[in-house]
Amino acid sequence: MKLLDLYAKMKGELNQIEQELERSVSDDHALLRDASTHLLKAGGKRLRPVIVLLAGKFGEYNLDLLKKVAVPLELIHMASLVHDDVIDDAETRRGQLTVKSKWDNRIAMYTGDYIHGKALSIATQLPNPLIHQILSKSLVQMCIGEMEQIRDFFNTEQSVRNYLLRIRRKTALLIAISCQLGAVAANADRVTANRLYRYGYNVGMAFQIRDDLLDLYGTEKQIGKPPGSDIRQGNITLPVILALRDTNIRGQLLQEIEAIRKAEGFPDTKRAIALIRESKGGNLADEMASRYIQKALRAIEGLPDIAAKKNLIDIAHFVNKRNY
Ligand code: IPE
Ligand code: IPE
Ligand code: MG
Ligand code: MG
Repeated sequence: MKLLDLYAKMKGELNQIEQELERSVSDDHALLRDASTHLLKAGGKRLRPVIVLLAGKFGEYNLDLLKKVAVPLELIHMASLVHDDVIDDAETRRGQLTVKSKWDNRIAMYTGDYIHGKALSIATQLPNPLIHQILSKSLVQMCIGEMEQIRDFFNTEQSVRNYLLRIRRKTALLIAISCQLGAVAANADRVTANRLYRYGYNVGMAFQIRDDLLDLYGTEKQIGKPPGSDIRQGNITLPVILALRDTNIRGQLLQEIEAIRKAEGFPDTKRAIALIRESKGGNLADEMASRYIQKALRAIEGLPDIAAKKNLIDIAHFVNKRNY
């Protein structure tokens, strides 16, 4: 089944999530509401809520309860995007202006915090303290991941391991806990929740590797922002680390990255991107993403054969092939 078909099948449930998301940011302060709603209405795949709901099907499925997990997770994701766009100095997101460029950095800081606060006010309605512990731990890890990325800007000597640890924190954990918490909220047993966590973690790793590949190989229309943003800001992603191992282009690529680092104003990344595309970096990164997807699929092999399992398998395949 294609992802769009899955969304169509889940339409009733997803509409409820959407309504709850809108409601959650629609009171209080006009500017905070407008800025949050701007990002909400810009679209997005709603991957984390979809995963929460599917994971919940492995336990006692209760949409009213799962909503209180799915909505905060999407809100936490959104808050992190608002802040991420400040750090990455990004003009567009989801094909629209970012909060920081439509308004400004200060407004983006508090919009992010506001969305975050809204996430907490819904999540705290859940009685199970385990959910709060898992959520807060992974938030701490996300911050560390984004800080490590800042630390590693323009570090062309960084290892693949370093990159993997960083994306584990900044992206994979939130997807992993979306799976886990869906299961925990639905009272699924521990083994099931662990399997789902491992699925989410591996899908999440592949998801960020794909995101980094799309930034180098995608078009603006596909990714909703200009390609090359990562290297422009000094974010050395997996395809670049692997391209730098290619002795035929290493010297030239290092020079190009150094020129980007030193550039004043808007640096030209065309030559750097062309060199990366000439190398095997893209293919190797692609293979790594596929290996994570294989691990994700293996993690849920032992789960009961209900429709949600098939849907999770489809999502894993979508992540592996995604071009948006
Ligand atoms: C973007 O996430 C940030 C990353 C973790 C790569 P998504 O690609 O899930 O963003 P939306 O929600 O669909 O816009
Ligand atoms: C993912 O990082 C954002 C977070 C996990 C907060 P990116 O910077 O790669 O994401 P995009 O490409 O801006 O969506
Ligand atoms: Mg970014
Ligand atoms: Mg970023």
